[in-house]
Amino acid sequence: MWQKATAVALLAFAVGYFYHSNPDLPEQVLQYLPFPHAPTQREPSLEHVISTAWEALITVPAQQWGRVAVGVNACVDVVVSGIGLLQALAEDPGPGHDHEVLHSKKDLKEAFIHYMERGSAAERFFTDKEVFQRIAQAAAEYPGAQLYVGGNAALIGQKLATYPQLMVLLCGPVGPKLHEMLDEQIIVPPESLQETDEFHLILEYKAGEQWGAARAPQANRFIFSHDVSNGEMSTLETFVASLDEFEPDLVVLSGLHMMEGQGRQMWERRLKEAVAAISDVRNAVPVHLELASMTDKDYMNSIMQEQVMPIVASIGLNEQELLFLSQAGAGPHAELSSWGGIPEVGRVSDILLWVLERHGRSDPESEADLTRIHFHTLAYHVLATVDGHWANQVAAVAAGARVASIQACGLQKIDASKVALRAPLEFHSSHSEPREKLFINPAKPVTIWNRGNVTFHLAPVLVCKQPLRTVGLGDAISAEGLIYSELRPSRPSL
Ligand SMILES: *[C@@H]1O[C@H](CO)[C@@H](O)[C@H](O)[C@H]1NC(C)=O
Repeated sequence: MWQKATAVALLAFAVGYFYHSNPDLPEQVLQYLPFPHAPTQREPSLEHVISTAWEALITVPAQQWGRVAVGVNACVDVVVSGIGLLQALAEDPGPGHDHEVLHSKKDLKEAFIHYMERGSAAERFFTDKEVFQRIAQAAAEYPGAQLYVGGNAALIGQKLATYPQLMVLLCGPVGPKLHEMLDEQIIVPPESLQETDEFHLILEYKAGEQWGAARAPQANRFIFSHDVSNGEMSTLETFVASLDEFEPDLVVLSGLHMMEGQGRQMWERRLKEAVAAISDVRNAVPVHLELASMTDKDYMNSIMQEQVMPIVASIGLNEQELLFLSQAGAGPHAELSSWGGIPEVGRVSDILLWVLERHGRSDPESEADLTRIHFHTLAYHVLATVDGHWANQVAAVAAGARVASIQACGLQKIDASKVALRAPLEFHSSHSEPREKLFINPAKPVTIWNRGNVTFHLAPVLVCKQPLRTVGLGDAISAEGLIYSELRPSRPSL
């Protein structure tokens, strides 16, 4: 009797699993399955099984970081109603008109209307410092305006500071407002404090919102700032200088993408200086570089060729940045114009391997430092590491996936009913042969495979069904992944 019951239960579980991964299963097949005999107790959902499994998988590394230095982009994001703010600035509605850069309130109004009528996002630089400061002041005081810590470095610092045993140094353009909003535990070197904050104004509008003749077809946001400090990475030298005294055992760098908008001459010079500054640090401590959206292929190529890539030990990036990296360097799948939905794991694996073999230390003879890439996309994350350099990867990739669900849903822990598994349950280790067929096991939800001298760890993400706020999710994922990562002490000859 028990044998029959077990067999039915197992079959029901297998069918549930099969059905979940093949939602297109024809009705005819389903009607032959013995559902009437299925156990009355409902099987726990895959989301529940996965989130429970994570708790067991996420273990702290044997050797934890004690001091982490983070730089160099930081700002205050002010989210406010676009129409409300423009009205408060005594602007009247009128025709829309795009401007490459904004010189005045009138330019701002026209560009805002131009994009609002289209419902598309845009980001612009406001040239007049004083006028911008007045607008920023009005925005920050506008009823219902929401102020958030912004900038990748500040967001990573905030995440790291949730671990009380960690000393965190943050270097970036920190004004009075940002300083007040930062976690108390974060140390800001006095040289990086400035009199005014770098405000990024985020003008929101809702679907159907109307101003004069303009009507928004969908909700979106128009972003503008007068952010010179972050655009020039002006605190980079201060950051590097403060490391001597702080003596971190990990350095996290972001903000390189901010220089892209400064024009070629400017970024060519600044990138050389950045490389020289980072080179000073690299022999003593590992450097993690957080990449963020770039649109200029020449700039992206410079980041790889001017040797930013090889002088950092670790990078964190998302699917757009990964594809762009491959396109800029004529790597695998560079012919794709976009991913089109959830990025195929085999293709992601091909590009990650290419980056580590071409720009990393996959060959022990190589001079490069790069040995770790933390890749994040909505549905899953992959941590790719060169063998022998890192430990605790299972926990690190799972911790990154867990924080993505928690933070997007705005909760303290995962609620299995509020998230959905979107990762493929079956995939391949490469897009082309030879390749290995791989699966996600919900009870042990980190899949591992090897190619050459590189090991890949994939964790599915339980995607929040109704996300509250997704800004800074990538920064939180990378920070959490680093906290659970361990650098092998036997780092070959540095
Ligand atoms: C992998 O490491 C071995 C030595 O351990 C080296 O000979 C080989 O070239 C490396 N492979 C790649 C693809 O870098």
